[in-house]
Amino acid sequence: MPTTVPTTVPDDDHPPGPEPAAAVDLWTGDSRELLRRIPDHSVDLICTDPPYNLAGYSTGNIAPGWRTPFNNDVAAWDEVAFDPAAWLPEIRRVLRPTGNLFAFTSYNMLGRWHDAYDPAFDTFQIVVWHKTNPPPKLRRAGFLNSCELIVAAWDRGHTWNFGRQREMHNFIETPICMGGERLKEPRHPTQKPVAVLRRLIEWGSRPGDLVLDPFMGVGSTGVAAAGLGRRFIGIEIDPAYAAAARRRMGVSDPG
Ligand SMILES: C[S@@+](CC[C@H](N)C(=O)[O-])C[C@H]1O[C@@H](n2cnc3c(N)ncnc32)[C@H](O)[C@@H]1O
Repeated sequence: MPTTVPTTVPDDDHPPGPEPAAAVDLWTGDSRELLRRIPDHSVDLICTDPPYNLAGYSTGNIAPGWRTPFNNDVAAWDEVAFDPAAWLPEIRRVLRPTGNLFAFTSYNMLGRWHDAYDPAFDTFQIVVWHKTNPPPKLRRAGFLNSCELIVAAWDRGHTWNFGRQREMHNFIETPICMGGERLKEPRHPTQKPVAVLRRLIEWGSRPGDLVLDPFMGVGSTGVAAAGLGRRFIGIEIDPAYAAAARRRMGVSDPG
């Protein structure tokens, strides 16, 4: 089960919570069950990327004939219905009162996130991630999928690392995950760039804080969190993705 990297980041002004004992804990399994192991109010930042439920909108891969097919399919895990409201009690339970929530989502889910989370937090906002090189669209009858939405929610007194007004734009612009960063085996269809996650983590947590990703995929949030001196708990249901996350973070297999 959990595997660890034995380092801690001391911060006298902001002592770490009771769990985890080590800096990185990666759990393979269903976060509906594993989240119960996390003590109340012990997480400083939930930074996560749950399923988008886009299966109903997918037209499948597009094969133009003159090149390899454009990947337009959705993963099997995205076909499992994800209801943001059902996760709210556990999210509220584990998050500290000073904590922040960042959750990637899609246009089709935004209303459901807002309906459930706006009444449950003092503030509900949105960050836009603009991809400078989104996948092309064959038919010129709509927008490219160049933006992703990120739900941001918190209560008064939350950790916030802003200085100047120009740092307060709810907008991040980077290329999609590619090149050496993009894992080939296993290939995760929604691997997020570490640069985007780093920005979110810098905004919403401090060194030594505990970051949780209950839908960690191949561990991009963990790579960013560990690189910034945060502690991290990641949960992933697919053993191949969880193993890839362990390799990326230099965490040994549970055996
Ligand atoms: C959108 S992907 C996250 C990708 C991640 N941001 C990355 O960069 O690798 C969502 C992940 O949640 C996982 N997942 C879905 N339901 C889950 C559950 N109940 N418990 C744990 N993981 C789950 C899927 O297997 C998938 O890898």
